[in-house]
Amino acid sequence: MGEGSTDTPQGVGHGKTEEFGHVPVLLKEAIDFLAVQRGGTYIDATVGLGGHSLEIAKRLGAAGRLIGFDKDPKALEIAKGVFGRSSSVVGQNTKADWPTIELRHGSFAELANDQRPKTNDGVDGILADLGVSSLQFGDPARGFSFQAEGPLDMRMNPMSEPTAEQVVNQFDERELADLIYEFGEERRSRRIARAIVRSRPILTTAQLAAVISTAARPMNQAERRIHPATRTFQALRIFVNRELDDLRKLLQAAPQLLKTGGRLVVISFHSLEDRIVKDAMREGATLGLYKLLTKKPVTASEVEIDRNPRARSAKLRAAGRV
Ligand SMILES: C[S@@+](CC[C@H](N)C(=O)[O-])C[C@H]1O[C@@H](n2cnc3c(N)ncnc32)[C@H](O)[C@@H]1O
Repeated sequence: MGEGSTDTPQGVGHGKTEEFGHVPVLLKEAIDFLAVQRGGTYIDATVGLGGHSLEIAKRLGAAGRLIGFDKDPKALEIAKGVFGRSSSVVGQNTKADWPTIELRHGSFAELANDQRPKTNDGVDGILADLGVSSLQFGDPARGFSFQAEGPLDMRMNPMSEPTAEQVVNQFDERELADLIYEFGEERRSRRIARAIVRSRPILTTAQLAAVISTAARPMNQAERRIHPATRTFQALRIFVNRELDDLRKLLQAAPQLLKTGGRLVVISFHSLEDRIVKDAMREGATLGLYKLLTKKPVTASEVEIDRNPRARSAKLRAAGRV
């Protein structure tokens, strides 16, 4: 959210990081479920362009602390600018009332080991807004989108390996088919993997999308509604960024990180993620670690979806530490 943002009557800004076209999803709902306490300590596991973080920071006051993670150093740079500008906006938060914000470049999975924040009795809340930001998706040079020509990269963290290009050109057909099936839930995975192997080398997003489109023509009306490359691109992105492993580690660490009464809020964007979150929260509730705050996932209103199409697939689940 930039300097030009305004507050709604509920006190939650619209959250649009205007210059990057990124609109935080389910912003009011996430902030409400976090129930941010003045003076508290919060973790934003996915800072992105700082939309959710900013709303948390505005409620913390000088005694509060926000610890933010992102794999993407560019996102953290932008978020730092957003916080810097907002902390000096007159009439909103003065510098004297601004919390301590620590930004860490790396995966939130590190919370499971050495990156655990030092606190007396744990943190008051953890938010994870999973997936990619508009900054990443909208930049053809990052290679996330099949709708724009770009290198096959797809890494959130430019220091990590492998790139999507390495996977597409080096994995054998069987490995490719398995990962497209597992992480893309793509029924045509074998056909797509065979076509990829025959068309190598594949160096760009558009080239890969064309290979998939030829190999996996839609069989029925339902398949026609999404681009044939959608599921394969999702699979490559999840694999390249180890998204599901990282999520499992965060969810495993969360009960130890949260103090009693602390809140865990997770926004996911596809069924693989949502299933992991749902299972972890339910298991935590069975073990007496959590009280579930959302029986069914919270989804975006039509108004929000109109304003921000990315919100269409968002599912928010929340739990309180007991
Ligand atoms: C949907 S965006 C978050 C947007 C943010 N809530 C906002 O309002 O601007 C997701 C961000 O999480 C980051 N990310 C995804 N998985 C991560 C992980 N395992 N560890 C750290 N950051 C991650 C991505 O790089 C991306 O910047």
